Amino acid sequence: MTALNINARIAVIGAGAMGAGIAQVAAQAGHPVLLLDNRPGAAAQAIDGIDRQLGKRVEKGKLSAEARAATIARLQAVEAIEALADCELIIEAIVENLEAKRTLFRQLEGICGEQCILASNTSSLSITSIAAQLSHPQRLLGLHFFNPAPIMALVEIVSGLASDPRLAECLYDTAKAWGKKPVHTRSTPGFIVNRVARPFYAESLRLLQEGAADCPTLDSLMRDAGGFAMGAFELTDLIGHDVNYAVTCSVFDAYYADTRFLPSLIQKELVDAGRLGRKSGHGFYSYAEGAERPQPKHISSEQSIDTCVVEGSLGIAQPLITRLREQGVEIIQRDGQGLLRTGDAVLALSDGRMACQRAREDGLRNLILLDLAFDYGKASRIAISYTADIDPTALEQGVAVLQRAGLNVSPLSDSPALAVLRTVAMLANEAADALLQGVASAADIDLAMRAGVNYPQGPLAWGDAIGLSHLLKVLENLQASYGEERYRPSLALRRRVAEGRTFHDKS
Ligand code: NAI
Repeated sequence: MTALNINARIAVIGAGAMGAGIAQVAAQAGHPVLLLDNRPGAAAQAIDGIDRQLGKRVEKGKLSAEARAATIARLQAVEAIEALADCELIIEAIVENLEAKRTLFRQLEGICGEQCILASNTSSLSITSIAAQLSHPQRLLGLHFFNPAPIMALVEIVSGLASDPRLAECLYDTAKAWGKKPVHTRSTPGFIVNRVARPFYAESLRLLQEGAADCPTLDSLMRDAGGFAMGAFELTDLIGHDVNYAVTCSVFDAYYADTRFLPSLIQKELVDAGRLGRKSGHGFYSYAEGAERPQPKHISSEQSIDTCVVEGSLGIAQPLITRLREQGVEIIQRDGQGLLRTGDAVLALSDGRMACQRAREDGLRNLILLDLAFDYGKASRIAISYTADIDPTALEQGVAVLQRAGLNVSPLSDSPALAVLRTVAMLANEAADALLQGVASAADIDLAMRAGVNYPQGPLAWGDAIGLSHLLKVLENLQASYGEERYRPSLALRRRVAEGRTFHDKS
């Protein structure tokens, strides 16, 4: 089935932030669009708002005055639901309440034609459940846009138990024709993005709770090493802690209290205190006038390093060696297990064990563990951890070699899998479980995380880049360290490792 014809009349119900944005997207694509809200005058106001937004784009030279006028001419505010009778697609973006949505769709069934596709923009309710009481549940699907809808590219096309696969294809093609990046997903709690993204917040919150590092240090590691646009604390301050905490609680409840989704007491306390983030002027950071953003911690060294010994390969961290060579450091290559030696210091990429444990088990004195970086060739910061009894000169030497490669060095307490590695390992593990459960394809999961929350790389592709055997080891070590099911590796990961395949390997 192909995309809806450009002349097909579309309706959007609910003229709030999402409904107005979706109406704008459909109208800009060329469809006649009706906008309805049960607050009198709200739909007309929303169209005025869209007009103002488009006006700003015209002023900036990003849109022609003709295109603005044509878009606005395609939008029509209506006050009665009966006006939607001849629409071919109706997208609901009303209040997030199951009964309200069910009632609305039942009412629509009595008004619109049999060919009309019904879609919900819900972000947390089950499509199966919304459709359950309809006479034709097969024509109801989820069409989940991200905020702000005109800007965010991702649209999750959500199929419930009864949804017609041909209609899912039609919505997929239609979203694509609207310039979006659609993905298919099954109606499971959190769909793709709101489920797979949970560890991004959860692992930073846990590290904070355990005193591994402070907020600015963890945030800067996620940005400067992890390649994420923002760290978890600045991002949740932006989203609003009430909203982010509610999503976590809803996913946690929906998965029957699986500890992978355990909400954070630290975040709950912020919500209890009314520190909701930017919108209330205070969250993890203060947004009061003149408030200064605290700086990330780093350590520096006065030592000078001219020679290093590399034993084996550092795996994904190998570009660090290129950076050192470029700085004129002499590299002596030997066989071995992936260690970088300089002076008395031994550096290695974390495998999920604490430094104290690995030093003892592998007989390595003065061990310094390196965190993951998205691109070791370009990162400007790296986290390290080390044993409490490290020789201070060896620590200085280890820090000096990383400095020489151009990195700021942020110390963490001796935590399993440090910060970026544990976060990415858990993102990849959650994505693997979603894959295992048939929630979406590997390609769609990765696309959803890149287009929906701007991750620098899809979590499954990232797992492939780290190496799935290493990823599995990291998770097993995390699970052993904490003794918690939260870190249990997904069967999908174990299976790929046993089969010698990657996540994106189709063979
Ligand atoms: P909102 O509160 O800004 O707007 C909802 C609008 O629906 C209001 O104008 C309200 O008057 C109207 N409304 C409520 N009940 C109605 C009814 N029975 N008939 C007609 N109009 C009705 O809400 P928002 O943020 O736009 O969210 C709408 C939907 O989109 C919810 O299901 C939400 O979960 C979902 N969503 C929200 C996102 C967000 O970031 N805000 C992102 C993705 C989905």
